[in-house]
Amino acid sequence: MLIKIRSEKEEDFAQVYRINSLAFESEGEAKLVENLRKSVPHISLVAEADGKIVGHIFFSPMTFENEKTDFLGLAPMAVLPEFQNRGIGSKLVREGLKTASEKGFTAVFVLGHPEYYPRFGFETAKTKGFSCEYEVPDEVFMVLELEKDALKDKKGLVKYRPEFAEV
Ligand SMILES: CC(C)(COP(=O)(O)OP(=O)(O)OC[C@H]1O[C@@H](n2cnc3c(N)ncnc32)[C@H](O)[C@@H]1OP(=O)(O)O)[C@@H](O)C(=O)NCCC(=O)NCCS
Repeated sequence: MLIKIRSEKEEDFAQVYRINSLAFESEGEAKLVENLRKSVPHISLVAEADGKIVGHIFFSPMTFENEKTDFLGLAPMAVLPEFQNRGIGSKLVREGLKTASEKGFTAVFVLGHPEYYPRFGFETAKTKGFSCEYEVPDEVFMVLELEKDALKDKKGLVKYRPEFAEV
């Protein structure tokens, strides 16, 4: 199976909606992507398997202590259930982090599976001094520095876009 990771195009929007709905078994994340696409600069990549879109990853800006930053939040990310566990999610994360770095973003936060994201270099955000606006176990809120020392001497609250609160 040939997997290609590329930027999302307008003609992919319906497929991306479907992938998020099926992977999360609800339309919350699919609607979130639609809302964020309209309102913020973002990175949105899709995975194509033999020409068919089977995965999606999205990054949106985060604030630090309510100020603008070069930090991104990775969310949501989804792979069609029948295509999971074949490395497609990993390819999306790696390509997404590379794109974020090339665009000058300095760190990426994620709220997700603590068994999954450390393989890409994510660490518990709390140990780096960052707290999350949501009440979640420490280990599920993680961060990865894209630029050396981007997080140095910074401690405080990082927040997702307000659209996330609607999910
Ligand atoms: C999470 C997700 C995007 C991973 O995509 P994928 O293509 O299956 O990922 P990969 O094939 O690169 O990696 C598979 C690994 O992810 C792990 N994984 C998948 N879902 C997981 C979960 N819910 N909790 C913990 N680990 C999970 C698998 O156990 C596997 O681990 P292994 O490599 O140690 O065997 C996909 O499972 C998905 O769409 N899940 C539903 C939506 C979701 O939970 N999105 C992420 C929100 S943080």
